[in-house]
Amino acid sequence: MGAGSWGGPESQRRVKVEAAAATTAADPWTEKSENWSPLTSLHPTNKNPATMAELQEVHITEEKPLLPGQTPEAAKEAELAARILLDQGQTHSVETPYGSVTFTVYGTPKPKRPAIFTYHDVGLNYKTCFKPLFDFGDMQEIIKNFVRVHVEAPGMEEGAPVFPLGYQYPSLDQLADMIPTILQYLNFSTIIGVGVGAGAYILSRFALLNPDAVEGLVLINIDCNAKGWMDWAAHKLTGLTSSIPDMILGHLFSQEELSGHSELVQRYRDIIMHAPNVENIELFWNSYNNRRDLNFERRGDATLKCPVMLVVGDQAPYEDAVVECNSKLDPTKTSFLKMADSGGQPQLTQPGKLTEAFKYFIQGMGYMASSCMTRLSRSRTASLTSRASIDSGRSRTASQSSESGIVPSGSPGHTMEVSS
Ligand code: BEZ
Repeated sequence: MGAGSWGGPESQRRVKVEAAAATTAADPWTEKSENWSPLTSLHPTNKNPATMAELQEVHITEEKPLLPGQTPEAAKEAELAARILLDQGQTHSVETPYGSVTFTVYGTPKPKRPAIFTYHDVGLNYKTCFKPLFDFGDMQEIIKNFVRVHVEAPGMEEGAPVFPLGYQYPSLDQLADMIPTILQYLNFSTIIGVGVGAGAYILSRFALLNPDAVEGLVLINIDCNAKGWMDWAAHKLTGLTSSIPDMILGHLFSQEELSGHSELVQRYRDIIMHAPNVENIELFWNSYNNRRDLNFERRGDATLKCPVMLVVGDQAPYEDAVVECNSKLDPTKTSFLKMADSGGQPQLTQPGKLTEAFKYFIQGMGYMASSCMTRLSRSRTASLTSRASIDSGRSRTASQSSESGIVPSGSPGHTMEVSS
């Protein structure tokens, strides 16, 4: 699929772009370090105030003259390379039919590779949702081969102003419809999506509508169903006694985690309770609760056509939802990782296990030769000692959920464990 096929004629002609360096030394989220942990001091409000102030407005006109002898394809490649070289952790905003959307880009482009494209959950932003995973030591070997595009739902970016009263927040479907504008701007025609919760839903909706644009999906804590009336009743009842931050914490973490007062949960509680954009978070939360059913079918048009890795923590809030989603997807394309000891946010609590599973997933898609696998992975293949494992669903009639089961697409008959 050519990048030119994205969006309407207006968005193809001119894109308004605001660019700002995403990295500031004062920001603990942006320090790349193997020692970094989600417990490091952090707060979305700790944003360096200069960052938003430094936003520059750049107008990029798409209709540029070609250099003599330059093919349109070469021109596009060169433009992408130039753009991304400037984009080491740079934050951009583009206008879409549903309002402006912000995303941050890391990495240098490799020809013909998809972008790794992340979408965070409600109550989080791209850093609070994904930084521990993308900063994990073994992850560097994988992500160095890809550009990463971390999108943020409107109003969730650091320093975002509170939307005015009466602002109509986009539905999850509309949030999915914003993605083509981002890809068109970056000139990416395909992605590997990594989404958590609401973000997993949004990426799935995007994949249903644009199957050729999605090479693979890692979906953590996905609930593919709309809320039924029982869920609504429970939600309303909870709303009588709980604040929005409390409800969102209950969406992100298990009751056990919330009552355990771990340092991680305390920190995220603090982030969400004191979020300066809590009104915006509530709007995103409402959109999530009003989501439509994705209506997955095992085969046919209403299914995900790409390899999918479903991930959920054992005994986490969305365990049943992910099990149900697994039963509705094509078993020949779907892997399922149920992670022990990971709680509601496996990407925060078990970045090592998830990195290893991601590596096999990417490898199954043909992007990492097995010779690139680290010493760590090879030795773990031999050790077979852990509680989360990888096996293939290709030989199964349905991909299966088990406390120790993950089924990487593209590696049939492959059984491997991921040590803790
Ligand atoms: C990345 O390298 O893709 C990344 C960096 C900071 C936060 C999240 C992701």
